Amino acid sequence: MRIYKAKDYADMSRKAANIVSAQVIMKPNCVLGLATGSTPIGLYKQLVEWFRKGDLDFSEVMTVNLDEYKGLSRENDQSYYYFMHQNLFDHVNIPVENTHLPNGMEPDSEKECRRYTELIQSLGGVDLQLLGIGHNGHIGFNEPGESFDKQVHCVNLTESTIEANKRFFASAEDVPKQAYTMGIKTIMQSKKILIVASGEDKAEIVQKAFFGPITPQVPASVLQLHNDVTLVADEAALSKLSE
Ligand code: F6R
Repeated sequence: MRIYKAKDYADMSRKAANIVSAQVIMKPNCVLGLATGSTPIGLYKQLVEWFRKGDLDFSEVMTVNLDEYKGLSRENDQSYYYFMHQNLFDHVNIPVENTHLPNGMEPDSEKECRRYTELIQSLGGVDLQLLGIGHNGHIGFNEPGESFDKQVHCVNLTESTIEANKRFFASAEDVPKQAYTMGIKTIMQSKKILIVASGEDKAEIVQKAFFGPITPQVPASVLQLHNDVTLVADEAALSKLSE
């Protein structure tokens, strides 16, 4: 694994965006696996800035997102579809038909998971998968204890996740109870992985995930078994590594 140490969030965003843009420049029709969450927002901003300057061209890029809430429509401002359009797709020249997310409005989980797995395969797999890391080591919606052997699947959100998400919705009933996510197996099939982490609150899990035992209890620890992983993290997120 390569580790790039960034000074702060802005530096992390720029360093990580450099890796994504190198991928796009080297292979203009590459398949990018994308993530939502707060960590990659600065990276997406940087890509948009370079696109506006004329340094990046997304016209042939294909994207597949890691996950999506089940039951949320594209118009819902908490959907990952909405997030991706707000933060990236609406600001660069990527054709909308090249962008893919699980369809949160498909009620038949089996059907949707099969469709999304086959879609990723039909694109020839993911060239570069971007990931964030949860405080408990989750990647995508793969929570601690999840088998390493899953492809795209539907997960029941834990009570604590539902509780934490409550503030974004009008009422508790509106909070999604399930989500579609690439499984660990899908993620591990990506040719390259770029994982970003920022802030002191991620320091403990970064240490555990990349220097601790490989265990389903820390889903991100499986990345130690991948042969092309780059971690870009700021000093705060790497602060527990020397201990
Ligand atoms: C996002 C995703 C999540 C986040 C993780 C970290 O698509 O699948 O696993 O990457 O929860 O989120 P932030 O970046 O908000 O700390």
